[in-house]
Amino acid sequence: METGKHSYMAEASAYLRAVHMSLDGQPKILDDPLAATLLGPGLDKKIDDDGERLASAPLVKARSLIVMRSRFAEEELAAAIERGVTQYVVLGAGLDTSPYRSNHPARQVQTFEVDHPDTQRWKLERLEAAGVRLRDNLHHVPVDFETDSLAEQLAASGFDHNAPAFFSWLGVSYYLNRDSVLDVFKFVAGLPAPSQIVFDFVMGDAELNDTERKAMKTITEFVERYGEPWLCRFGPTELQQMLLDVGFSKTFYFSHALATQRYFDGREDGLHLDFTTQMMSAIV
Ligand SMILES: C[S@@+](CC[C@H](N)C(=O)[O-])C[C@H]1O[C@@H](n2cnc3c(N)ncnc32)[C@H](O)[C@@H]1O
Repeated sequence: METGKHSYMAEASAYLRAVHMSLDGQPKILDDPLAATLLGPGLDKKIDDDGERLASAPLVKARSLIVMRSRFAEEELAAAIERGVTQYVVLGAGLDTSPYRSNHPARQVQTFEVDHPDTQRWKLERLEAAGVRLRDNLHHVPVDFETDSLAEQLAASGFDHNAPAFFSWLGVSYYLNRDSVLDVFKFVAGLPAPSQIVFDFVMGDAELNDTERKAMKTITEFVERYGEPWLCRFGPTELQQMLLDVGFSKTFYFSHALATQRYFDGREDGLHLDFTTQMMSAIV
């Protein structure tokens, strides 16, 4: 990310969630009316102007991934709260609206939105401009995962290290160095059971066929051009072993086959997943 500027990819992700609400069929995979509210005026015209691009295969697949990852994480959060988790941490929150939606389970628990200071400042401005009220049990925690201590910054904001927490970490792990990713795993694994993390990761080249490797090259060049290169990629088996090694007791690889069966089969709007990012969950 360019110093002093918010993440372009955070804005692009929110845009695709708003596009999903506007262009895709029912039922919505992610019902996120606040995405448009945060993006502000001029959105309808932008979506109209972008019509052809938004119907192209890469953007249909990109928004399928983006709405699926949030839907899956939010379902896992609801289940975690049922199991007794009392804290929700959104790591690299971008314009994620889950803490602000009126019917969202996050409202019941202490919620911590963690993000790079430059992106968080921009989000707070967007929330204010949109007139979104901040509830008392919501805390904004500025953290650079590459240089700051997540544990210390969370503690300074009232996070209780003796209570179980649910972490969603969407669209972030691959922008970090491997050691920073490992630090986050270790931190969550050190919290009380049944703490949980749900995150997406980018598949390593070894997992891909020739066609996928070529497509991956195009995508990685695209994100690099926007100054937000993908720094680490994994295979699911390697990742599951890493999670068990740092102390999680259970992992769940929510493969594209499972995600397709759960959310996409039978849809008539053409939404579908590709191989690029995949979902993982780990429980302490
Ligand atoms: C692609 S966006 C995803 C945002 C949001 N989770 C979503 O699903 O829309 C990537 C997010 O990671 C954050 N990020 C990237 N590098 C970071 C770092 N070193 N420390 C903290 N946050 C970082 C960005 O600020 C941005 O909010």
